[in-house]
Amino acid sequence: MKIINHLSFRFLLVFCAILFGGINLSFAQVNLPSVNPDRIVLNLTVDPTTSVAVTWRTDTTVQSSVCELQPASTSRLNKEETKSFSALTTKVKHAYDKEPTITVNQHSVVLKGLKPGAKYVYRVGVENHWSEWFQFQTSEDSKRDFSFIYFGDPQLDLKSQWSRVVRAAYQYEPNCRFMLYAGDIINRAGRDIEWYEWFAAGSYIFATVPQIMTPGNHDYNDLVPGLHWNTQFTQPTNGPADLDGTCFFIDYPNLRLISIDSASGSELEDENGYELTVQKAWLDSVLRTNTKEWVVVTTHLPFYSTKDTRDNPQLRKHFQPILEKYKVDLVLTGHDHSYGRGRASDNLNSKPPIVYVVSVSGPKLYPTGTKSWMEFKGGNLELFQKISISQNGLTYQSVTPNGELFDEFRLQRKKDGAKKFIEMNPLVPKQK
Ligand SMILES: [Fe+2]
Repeated sequence: MKIINHLSFRFLLVFCAILFGGINLSFAQVNLPSVNPDRIVLNLTVDPTTSVAVTWRTDTTVQSSVCELQPASTSRLNKEETKSFSALTTKVKHAYDKEPTITVNQHSVVLKGLKPGAKYVYRVGVENHWSEWFQFQTSEDSKRDFSFIYFGDPQLDLKSQWSRVVRAAYQYEPNCRFMLYAGDIINRAGRDIEWYEWFAAGSYIFATVPQIMTPGNHDYNDLVPGLHWNTQFTQPTNGPADLDGTCFFIDYPNLRLISIDSASGSELEDENGYELTVQKAWLDSVLRTNTKEWVVVTTHLPFYSTKDTRDNPQLRKHFQPILEKYKVDLVLTGHDHSYGRGRASDNLNSKPPIVYVVSVSGPKLYPTGTKSWMEFKGGNLELFQKISISQNGLTYQSVTPNGELFDEFRLQRKKDGAKKFIEMNPLVPKQK
């Protein structure tokens, strides 16, 4: 009897070990940092012809980290060609509701002194804990053709569903020079597990193709961007004071790309508020001094909504006259979770009207509304956009994750510099 009891006790011990070991495994925290670098991401800088920003994270035992850089060659890597850049390291603590607090070291480097239009390889880490080598290309300094990808809100189910969209976009245009986001990258600002999902979705693409993003309301928390925004990314800081990494411009090289932060100041509701007044003055100055042939503006809130129950008249009232004065070409937005694009103005005398787009890339989808500004629209559709810029034209394509063309138009540049809108979508009647 004693022997049977002894065996039963041992069996119970083994059973518990398997059971609780299994439970521990199934609850393993997937977003914990380690000594090995992860969440490696490139960001565009103010001067993408000669520089690019790299950001990554480790656990807090790694108190200094470096980025190694080499010109891309056609042969194996050559140690003698390596340049080493020391990172700026910041300890960051992410706490969200009752979820486990995540403490990390964020490492950031701006690689400077690069050659325009050149390919490089880089890796990040410390001895015995290196990332793989990633390859990227700087912007040419002359007027060369290039393409970029634009995403509306990813926001939800980033790993399980949005992953398909970002991978399809990269497959559709593997030579895209950067990926642009019109806000609401995740759903709850400050929630580290959602950023884990975003990085899982993009993986090496984010370390290869520079990412650039304007914030949405879901990227803000209590009137400030979530802590990840300016620690996990290294975005330009050439906008107004206190809007670092959210309001900025980049020249790439014949395009001026401008981010207006429409998530700040409680979505710019206060007409006399700092965020609205300072961005208006700044926008006017960066457009007045612009020498680039193409101007694209991105902001989260739509100037014209796709949803019948939504409207943002304050955005049009304050920013549209400035955009029209300087003949901005294209405005890329998100927030409404359906698709619409059209030429529109609150000023009937404005010619040519600016092209406005609302789009969504993640699986939070709504039907589209009935507003008449939309020349083409779609509901319950995940989309990405490929925008190609050449010396004489801008071609816009909206594409499904299946790789099917959904919408298309072109802005043709005439000899006198004026732009002509050309409808390329056979489903849209040619009117204006
Ligand atoms: Fe939003």
